[in-house]
Amino acid sequence: MRRTQPRPHLEARNNSDSSFEARAGLSRKCVARIYGLCSGRTKEREVVFASAENLGDGLRDAQYVVDRVTLQVVYLAARMQKPLLVEGPPGCGKTELAYAVAAAAGATVERLQCYQGITEEKAIGKFDESLQSLYLESQKEFLREDWDGIRNRLHSLDFFAEGPLLRALRHQSKPCVLLIDEIDKVDHAFEALLLEVLSAWQITVPKLGTIKAETVPFVVLSSNEERRLGDPLRRRCLYLRFEYPTVEREVEILAARSAAQQMPLLGQMAGLAHALRGWNMEKPPSIAEMLDLAHALDILEVKEIVPEQRDVLLPLLAKTEGDRGRLLLREGFEGLVMDSKIYRDKLNGRRRIACAAA
Ligand SMILES: Nc1ncnc2c1ncn2[C@@H]1O[C@H](COP(=O)(O)OP(=O)(O)OP(=O)(O)O)[C@@H](O)[C@H]1O
Ligand SMILES: [Mg+2]
Repeated sequence: MRRTQPRPHLEARNNSDSSFEARAGLSRKCVARIYGLCSGRTKEREVVFASAENLGDGLRDAQYVVDRVTLQVVYLAARMQKPLLVEGPPGCGKTELAYAVAAAAGATVERLQCYQGITEEKAIGKFDESLQSLYLESQKEFLREDWDGIRNRLHSLDFFAEGPLLRALRHQSKPCVLLIDEIDKVDHAFEALLLEVLSAWQITVPKLGTIKAETVPFVVLSSNEERRLGDPLRRRCLYLRFEYPTVEREVEILAARSAAQQMPLLGQMAGLAHALRGWNMEKPPSIAEMLDLAHALDILEVKEIVPEQRDVLLPLLAKTEGDRGRLLLREGFEGLVMDSKIYRDKLNGRRRIACAAA
């Protein structure tokens, strides 16, 4: 959307009650809020997390597993009111992080799902033309005496169907997490549009004016890196890189998010994930797919993965013709199952030593 200077009539409206507002009995404060031009100063965002530990407790309650460094970076982003740009392979918890932070903060999530060809209207919103026509019809008799007032009202937020970006800036009672999901799918022009939002915390819409944030949302941008994002966007964000988790962390995630609670099976599933990912697959299994595997094993009442289960487990683990073909080779799956047991046993050994030392 083209960025314009705030229209003079909007500024003027801030200084004196227009006849429409007087007619509608709106107070000056209320009018200012409606037009988002109240003081020109964004209200301080409430401190959502008292400490990194407090955030950690909230994420744990949301069954979201993070390492210490990620936890501190998320905490810093919240305290510094910086957007968080999260890049990494599919199914590794980028989107889920936004929901977990929102759950930890008791915040509402506004989600902008990006795709190729997304429009500014979709992100910011647009004037509701049918409502405008209806209003115009109802004001026919005042047209001559109060055209300016009616025109200004028609171009106010009352007649604007807000998209997620605008809604996120206008949250008042509750904190808000703005998830801009799969930002790598948009083109450069749309990316540039976000720069105003993410640093000035305001949006400028032709005819509507500049809408300043009521509260600064906590922003998470996720990307699968289909396209390299521009440096201006990057410099406004704190950057998190998500990789596949370690065997230990994957055990924690599987334990938090699946019905499997027995250590040997958890360790074997995490070990299998690790082995598959080290196997140079076209599409290595993500955390989400390992959770599907855990679900399937629970349904099948399987307590240990064995080579004979290959054909039934393959659709959960191999998602391309090439990967399927390789796993079907004689030694393919069998070797991976053996590796999974080795990882499981190593993990169990380490745990036993840790328990003995404690
Ligand atoms: N750290 C984690 N703690 C708990 N669960 C996780 C974690 N990471 C991933 N998951 C699980 O994996 C699932 C998929 O994660 P998510 O949808 O966030 O992936 P993504 O990185 O956004 O993938 P995509 O790029 O395909 O959108 C989540 O629903 C969640 O169950
Ligand atoms: Mg996602």
